[in-house]
Amino acid sequence: MSHSGTVRKKVLEETVTLPTTPELPTLGQLPSRGAFPANPGEFAHNLHNDARLSLEAVADLADRLPRHSVIYDSAAQPLLVPQGGPARGSLSRPGDVIRNLDQAKAWLTLLNIDEDPAYADLMNTALDELERGMGSRPGDMRKRVGFVFVSSPNSVTPAHFDIEHSLLAQVNGAKTVSFGRFESEQARRHEVERYWDGSHGRIESLPPELASYPLTPGRGVYIPPVAPHWVHNGPAISLSVTLTYFTAATERENLIEAVNARLRRLHLAPRQPGKSALSDGAKVAAMRAKAFASGLRHGDGDRRRAASMGGHQ
Ligand SMILES: [Fe+2]
Repeated sequence: MSHSGTVRKKVLEETVTLPTTPELPTLGQLPSRGAFPANPGEFAHNLHNDARLSLEAVADLADRLPRHSVIYDSAAQPLLVPQGGPARGSLSRPGDVIRNLDQAKAWLTLLNIDEDPAYADLMNTALDELERGMGSRPGDMRKRVGFVFVSSPNSVTPAHFDIEHSLLAQVNGAKTVSFGRFESEQARRHEVERYWDGSHGRIESLPPELASYPLTPGRGVYIPPVAPHWVHNGPAISLSVTLTYFTAATERENLIEAVNARLRRLHLAPRQPGKSALSDGAKVAAMRAKAFASGLRHGDGDRRRAASMGGHQ
């Protein structure tokens, strides 16, 4: 049975919470629809029926994960918070906050849920389906990382962008994800450089809104790298999962941006990515050599740093 057939059947059984748009593509169909991977696009999924994503299971996961894998903030956020992201690891028992989200007026992001084998399996099942649809070379989808986002009713995630390709799948409650467009290439460059200088992707001014996607359980949206977006959660507890990855192209561009940020700290004016193949190649080689040496000393630290903190809602 096709995935859309599954959705249709579920709609008949539970007309209140399940999606009424069986025409949405599955993850495997997403790459052949719209303007993937450059533009946002909606998809249908079945993660809202997965016991690993019940509120209780996620509360237990939050208590199991290392403390630095939990980001906590208050629910009442303005749309613009350009000074940076919230603190990590400030809660000793994050699961208790999740169990009392109705009163907690909080939102939490669980980072690197794939450190737990059951959630690595959940993430890989979904991303494998997308990767098959992409028809890309084996291994092109890399540095997979999963996040769970839980929030009290009506919480807001301020405007930001992420540097990964992200699949945001709604599991419980509702939210609206709105996308904007930088008004100029100069404005985009400004925010990309702020990111690499430490902004966590939180942007300084709200770009004009391009599109918004109301998400309910069973619906998700693909978020391209560096696409500004912000989120309004609905009047119920919201739980969503975000699965992220890089490709060879995005990884290469990010290595160059990281080198450029270092050069700016030395008061140099480095070339932007894509302006000089020679300069880009040298930067990538330098970063790979450094990452290799660092990996020998610290293990797989690079992968954890891949998780940006703008807001994987
Ligand atoms: Fe985000």
